[in-house]
Amino acid sequence: MNFPFWNVAIIGSGWVIGLIAIFHVIISHFAVGGGLLMPILERQALKRGDDEWRVLLRRNMKFFLIITGVLGTVSGVGIWFSIGLAQPQGTSALIHIFVFFWAIEWVFFLIELASAAVYYYSWGRISDKLHLAVGWCYCIASIATLFFINGILSFMLTPGAEWIRAAWMDQAPGAVVSGFFNPTYWPSLFIRILAAIALASVFLLFSFSRTTPYISNRLKSIALRNVVLYFIPALLLLPIGLLWYLHMTPESQQALLKIPQTGILKVGLWAIIGAGLTSATAFILVFINPIQFGRKQAWIILLLSASVVAASEYSREILRKPYIIVGYMYSNGIREADVKKFNKEGFLDNSLWVRKNDYGVGEAMFRGQCMSCHTWNGYRSMEKLLKGKTIENLQTVLNMLYDYEPESLMTHYMPPLVGTTAERRALAAWLIQKANLCLENEEKNSEQKNE
Ligand code: HEC
Repeated sequence: MNFPFWNVAIIGSGWVIGLIAIFHVIISHFAVGGGLLMPILERQALKRGDDEWRVLLRRNMKFFLIITGVLGTVSGVGIWFSIGLAQPQGTSALIHIFVFFWAIEWVFFLIELASAAVYYYSWGRISDKLHLAVGWCYCIASIATLFFINGILSFMLTPGAEWIRAAWMDQAPGAVVSGFFNPTYWPSLFIRILAAIALASVFLLFSFSRTTPYISNRLKSIALRNVVLYFIPALLLLPIGLLWYLHMTPESQQALLKIPQTGILKVGLWAIIGAGLTSATAFILVFINPIQFGRKQAWIILLLSASVVAASEYSREILRKPYIIVGYMYSNGIREADVKKFNKEGFLDNSLWVRKNDYGVGEAMFRGQCMSCHTWNGYRSMEKLLKGKTIENLQTVLNMLYDYEPESLMTHYMPPLVGTTAERRALAAWLIQKANLCLENEEKNSEQKNE
């Protein structure tokens, strides 16, 4: 850890990122989906010569403009704020590796914002042809932002053998393109485009669930059925995308599915089953009687879809445990390449910002190495995990984390414990004292006394 540690009570710093990221992911997929669907729908309305349809589309464009320009922008800054505080080492690594890719992404985001604004405000004021051209510009810029961010996000799970090799030889910059187009790049892009279409469709279904005078019955059934034709295939293809994605992840990460402690199997299954369930629900609600499709029905579809997207996103994050960048950097910011060095020279001596004087060696070790995932008495509470354990039990866990044999289940969800013998002893001593653990025979004695 070369950066100060950010301690967040109860939820832990990881969930600060998590909450902002889930919000941002949902918003940004709305935005990209809007960019994709609006010009397509406008083109249909133009072809049919349906003016009511076009007026309705313009009203809905306002939502996408606000989503992109306000909520997307603010939550995007929120992500930088939270990852910079909670995962400074990982953030720094990603910036160093992909600086130009971030820059390109921001340029496209600016183009997306500008063209979305022009698209909305020029509606009905310029020729139809020119207006549609602005729409395509908005569409392409939206997809381009996804194209660039997707390389960086998928890199974290699968940097790829070539990049890892280059990184160990200190030649990572030369391998940046292979890191960008890494093994999960395409399945991940596929999933994100589907999710974007699904979410933007959900908004439109929501909007079209109103009644006259906002929308006539004639237009309501056309518009709803039209949108569902994008929504259902997107959701039905989503599980295929998720399986393709899983197929491309390394075996070490696939093994996480078999470990109940991670909870990934349950959440992942929901993503897959939920996708089918949501599309079936939408089909039944919209096709049977579009005129009856109201707010309640729209809410059902909105909540179902949001839970499917959140579940996919959560599984993606968990699938990366115990890494920030698989095979390169652990969740607590320690690089795989540094493990040996830290064991020999000491973890704290190599951590400029961990202030032993303020905390003592044991607590400093805990803050530096464990608190990116555990809190003391909140999320993944250390207090609860140590409850009922003896000193011997704790020692076994710490030894396993230090030895880090691949057969040990824990290596699949926890990074190795690093540091000198003295540092590790101090950590154990601090945990024992703080959690009030006792030795096995002491425990038996006290049980006998109680009897
Ligand atoms: C990458 C995230 C991560 C980091 C970093 C991490 N852990 Fe864990 N730890 C977990 C997960 C996930 C579990 C399983 C939680 C559960 O079963 O609810 C766990 C469980 C445990 C348990 C209970 C084990 C058992 O079998 O009952 C102990 C003890 C523990 N961790 C100690 C530590 C210590 C000490 C550190 C720091 C040296 C640490 N962990 C760092 C993710 C992490």
